[in-house]
Amino acid sequence: MKKIFITFEGGEGSGKSTQIELLKNYFLKKGLPVTLTREPGGSLICEQIRDVLKDGNNGKMGKVTELLLFSAARSQHAEDIIVPALDRGDIVISDRFYDSSIVYQGYARGLGEKLVREVTKIAIGNLEPTLTLYLNIDPELAFKRKNGPDNDRFEKAGLDFHIQVRNAYINLAKKEKRIKVIDASKRIEEVFASIVKVIEDKIQI
Ligand code: TYD
Repeated sequence: MKKIFITFEGGEGSGKSTQIELLKNYFLKKGLPVTLTREPGGSLICEQIRDVLKDGNNGKMGKVTELLLFSAARSQHAEDIIVPALDRGDIVISDRFYDSSIVYQGYARGLGEKLVREVTKIAIGNLEPTLTLYLNIDPELAFKRKNGPDNDRFEKAGLDFHIQVRNAYINLAKKEKRIKVIDASKRIEEVFASIVKVIEDKIQI
C-alpha cells in the first residue's frame, strides 16, 4: 500500500490553514480517506506540550528545552496519529512537521541543522513526508493580512525573526527535492491551483 504523507509549512498569515482545508476537501471529493493533523499538537499529550510551548509567560524557555519539547510532541504525534493513519491507508496532511524545527530551532534560534536532525532522528526515526508544501510569503505582507493581537511566544518574536525563518525555508527547499515552494501572496484560488498542480505532478494516488 502506498503511504501518502503531505506536510505544510509556512509562517504567520501565509494562509496555511485555508489551503489545508481546501486540500482535505479535494481528496475527500475523490473518495479518498484523509487524516488532518497539526504540530505541535494532534493528540492529548501533544496538545498539553503545545500549551507549554506557546504560553506567553514562558519567555525564559531555553532553546534546547524548546527543541526537545517540540521533538517530544512530534514523537508522540507520530506514534498516536501519523503512523496509524498511514497504516490504515489514509492520506495524512499535517500542518507543520520537522522542517519547522530545522527552520525555527535550527536556524532562527541558532541551534544548527545538524543538531535538530539528530534529535529528530531520535524522536521519529526515518519517518519522512512524501511531499512538503512551503507557503512562501513576505512576512510584512503576511502580518498585514492577519488580524488579532500577537500574544503567544512565536507571534511576539518580531519581523527579523520571521524574515530569518523565511530565508531558512527557501534555502532548505533548495536542498530538499521533497519541499515545493508555493507563492502564497496570490489569491486563495490561485494558491490552491498551484498546490493541486504540484500534487497531481508529484503524487500518484
Ligand atoms: P501555531 O499557532 O500552530 O502557528 P502557525 O499557525 O504559524 O502554524 O504555532 C506554532 C508555532 O510554533 C509557530 O510559530 C512555529 C513554531 N514551531 C517551531 O518553532 N518549531 C516546530 O517544530 C513547530 C512544529 C512549530
